[in-house]
Amino acid sequence: MTSRPMVRPEDIDSIDLASPRLYAENELDEVWRHLRTHRPVYWHPPRADRPGFWVISRYADVNKVYQDKAHFTTENGNALATLLTGGDSASGTMLAVTDGVRHHQIRNVLNKGFSKRTLNLIAHSLQQSVDRLLLAALDKGECDAAHDISANVPLGAICDLLEIPEADRTFLLSQTAHAWSSDYADAPPEDNWVAKNEILLYFSKLCRERKGSANDDMVSLLANCRIDDQPLNSVELMANCYGLMIGGDETGRHAITGAILALIEHPDQWRALKNGDVDLDTATEEVLRWTVPSLHGGRTATGDVVVGGEQIKAGDVVSVWIYSANRDETVFDQPDRFDLARTPNKHFTFAYGTHYCLGHHLGRMEVYAVLDGLRRLVTDLEQIGEEKWIYSSILHGMSSLPVRLTA
Ligand code: HEM
Repeated sequence: MTSRPMVRPEDIDSIDLASPRLYAENELDEVWRHLRTHRPVYWHPPRADRPGFWVISRYADVNKVYQDKAHFTTENGNALATLLTGGDSASGTMLAVTDGVRHHQIRNVLNKGFSKRTLNLIAHSLQQSVDRLLLAALDKGECDAAHDISANVPLGAICDLLEIPEADRTFLLSQTAHAWSSDYADAPPEDNWVAKNEILLYFSKLCRERKGSANDDMVSLLANCRIDDQPLNSVELMANCYGLMIGGDETGRHAITGAILALIEHPDQWRALKNGDVDLDTATEEVLRWTVPSLHGGRTATGDVVVGGEQIKAGDVVSVWIYSANRDETVFDQPDRFDLARTPNKHFTFAYGTHYCLGHHLGRMEVYAVLDGLRRLVTDLEQIGEEKWIYSSILHGMSSLPVRLTA
């Protein structure tokens, strides 16, 4: 039922790849295919109010940038939205936009929050909540998969990880939904800032409450850790709670709604899933390759370096396009085919290298739980209205997907 027009490759010089509107209202597969083939390291011209930037679309070049920590940093921001507008205010404090020794130290603290014990507990409550949501959707018959199913899965898991009180979860969901994207074309940028500040304030209060606690939830770990015998300062504390919340919520939601749409659009794959013909771990990886909840990663070059034969200069902004790399025909056999049995499947959905997604286990568990729930509880999936895509150049997914589920 997708009715978004496909942008033509010949229009490449006139489109703005940093525009949130572009992704909400268009399909870009042909543009990415063209760039991979003809201009794999493409200099995107500046616009009136913003500098130009490099667009890297081939798997091999994306891989090189992700691994080359000697020449690329996230410290000015890790997405075009911040890199082209003066940098990220959390730079040097939040894990994703911190590099070097500090990155390593904070990552070590956060890694402790993903113990086997914690993940097992979350897996259990995740499956229960997915089953509950699917049964409620089946009961209603018709629902909006983005609102009624996907929106409630990752938030529950990340809230379990951070031990957020039940009563605060709806408020946080409403804020995270607006911190990095919008459901409307003309939403003022202030909406994003207000949402981000609300989340930061919330965590500042929670960290104060958890100081001195011996619990092993992520907030307590951050609030009570010591690095070189010093606690994290209050900005680092808030920024990293915020990073977990944002990193862990919207991405997972988009993967789940994207999975449901892909299964509807590929009835043979839905049957394969239902019949148990495909392994759930393998199917999870294909859903992640296909849906690409995070479209690109952003870096700044710290020194002159050649990528794909192009000279990148120190200070240049570089964007690596996960969406395109995940469909690179030199790496994936028939990349435009949604194939739940695909192996190998080394996609970049969780990035690669130093900043490889900290929550990848959880992201995978969420998609797995939804596929498992759909397979066990649902007989048929049908789209009953047009889906709506979000306005963002970094996040990729739907704000609405009307469906009918049959038991
Ligand atoms: C990093 C995607 C789930 C927390 C990243 C990056 C990507 C990504 C692409 C790399 C950013 C960069 O290179 O600049 C995803 C997707 C997810 C997901 C697609 C779900 C399907 C989660 C969850 C959490 C999380 C559940 C938290 C519990 C983080 C953090 C980082 C990160 C903290 C920064 C890691 C670092 O800089 O060392 N994620 N993520 N993500 N993600 Fe995720």
